[in-house]
Amino acid sequence: MFFISFEGCEGTGKTTQIDFLKEKLEKKSFDVLSIQEPGTTKLGLKIRKLLKGDLEGAEKISEITELFMFSAARSDLISNKLSNFIKSKKIVICDRYVDSTTAYQGYGRQLDLNKIKLINSLATQNIMPDITFLLDFNPKIGIQRLGSYQMEFSLNDSSNQRETEGVRFETESNEFLNRVRNGYLELAKNEPDRWKIIDANLDKTEISKIIWETVETKLKNIH
Ligand code: TYD
Repeated sequence: MFFISFEGCEGTGKTTQIDFLKEKLEKKSFDVLSIQEPGTTKLGLKIRKLLKGDLEGAEKISEITELFMFSAARSDLISNKLSNFIKSKKIVICDRYVDSTTAYQGYGRQLDLNKIKLINSLATQNIMPDITFLLDFNPKIGIQRLGSYQMEFSLNDSSNQRETEGVRFETESNEFLNRVRNGYLELAKNEPDRWKIIDANLDKTEISKIIWETVETKLKNIH
């Protein structure tokens, strides 16, 4: 398995780039699996729905519970899907992975980073991406790009809102998103061999070119 993950704040164009990359790899006859976190497995999809606010009258989701929910979805993904592909030649492209938990729950929500590290290692069974692309820009731009479109599934800082709406992020919560962004940059700085930071303000064709060149080089080195 060759494992690629995409990270970044909302509105950075991850999905477009994942689609481009998948198409390009398939044209070159690679066996590609594109997945999303949380989601992908049946349990993961159920957790996604719950996080989106489909709580059926349950009490509010605390920050720690939220951490466990994202981690439970990930653990299910690893146990029921990814662990089966380790020895295969599949290329797995993941829209968000464990770094999202460190960035959002760790840096964003300011939960203890050491504890998050431990939970992440349990949930992933230490299966980590070969490359992680960080599509980076000022989160304010992402919010503007998304415009008035109500992000269905986004985090915020205000816990009173979460009581009625599940884990819903308030798009204007700039401070929160700035912490997330800086968290990502910190993670990338600490592990430069795995991360490739890309300026998400660049033209999308330019971005896809950088992504392709990086993937091609890494693939050449392992084959
Ligand atoms: P999603 O609808 O997948 O949107 P996006 O296109 O931004 O990826 O939303 C997932 C949201 O959940 C996103 O705001 C980031 C957040 N998230 C976490 O807080 N922790 C996590 O571990 C993951 C995977 C996502």
